[in-house]
Amino acid sequence: MKSVSSAPGKIILFGEHFIVYGGKAILCAIDRRITVESELMDNGKIEITSSVGNALLSTSDQVSSVEPSLRPIVHLAKKILAEYNSTSGIRIGIYAEFPAGVGLGSSSACCVAAASSILGLFADQTRDRVLELALEAERTVFESTSGADTTVCTLGGAIEYHRDGYAAKLDFEPNFTLIVADSQISHSTSSVVSRVRKYKDNNPAIFSLLCTQEERLIEDALEALKNGDLRVVGQRMSQNQKYLEQIGVSNDKLNVMVDLAKSTSYGAKITGAGDGGCIIALVDQSNIESTMKVLCESGHQCFGVKVDMLGLQHKLELT
Ligand code: PMV
Repeated sequence: MKSVSSAPGKIILFGEHFIVYGGKAILCAIDRRITVESELMDNGKIEITSSVGNALLSTSDQVSSVEPSLRPIVHLAKKILAEYNSTSGIRIGIYAEFPAGVGLGSSSACCVAAASSILGLFADQTRDRVLELALEAERTVFESTSGADTTVCTLGGAIEYHRDGYAAKLDFEPNFTLIVADSQISHSTSSVVSRVRKYKDNNPAIFSLLCTQEERLIEDALEALKNGDLRVVGQRMSQNQKYLEQIGVSNDKLNVMVDLAKSTSYGAKITGAGDGGCIIALVDQSNIESTMKVLCESGHQCFGVKVDMLGLQHKLELT
């Protein structure tokens, strides 16, 4: 029997970084997925194949014996096998429809899909249980994650996420597409988060003001999203970008990309930790082509994504 789960990637529409210090963020699941397939094996090994790397180890080996990007998966395999007193080995295949390490939530989607897929070999599952396991797995490599990515990859749709873990799905009909453009600059979320913490410690008054402004901006954006008012949502995205520039997580290349995208779309900003990764631009039928054109003609790789409304999906297949 094969247990197959998939979870969507994500973009952060508003609130990255500021959420680390309270407040809230708005995230959307996107219609690009990571699929994880698991099967029990009788060789006592954990075997992982994926586009970011492969691993073959014994179920008794330490999680730290594999490269960091695969540790959450090994953690999940060991934990779930032990929880169900299984002496089996396990074969895990990971297939991604979008690149890793660019701020689109590949590691969170992978943790969610893997938790669901491995758990599905032993038991019925609830989204709450999968989310709990996925979050624990993700914290093996990124201890201070807010949990926002993992939550939206599990639930799908768009969510309002609070630092304390409270998440509410937005009740709205998405009437937009987001153009994602990759800067091709790799980044490390944890080092950008540390740098922002230093900025906050050195500039407490400015940072506190920015947090207040960000909170107001998010309230406006929530209202505008519910009303389908893309002009206001886009304007708030571009304003959010200014705050992100102020705390030093954008750079020249990202600024150029955002300015290009802003010339034709409703608004644009980086998505995720910054320093590299992707920008997003808000469009609909009226400006999707012109925005793709302006980014592509300047040599940037880009693609359009819609909001994924399904979230985590799981099925069992007879082999
Ligand atoms: O790099 P990403 O897309 O995983 O975004 C990180 C978002 C931060 O707010 C910077 C950190 C967090 O844990 O919320």
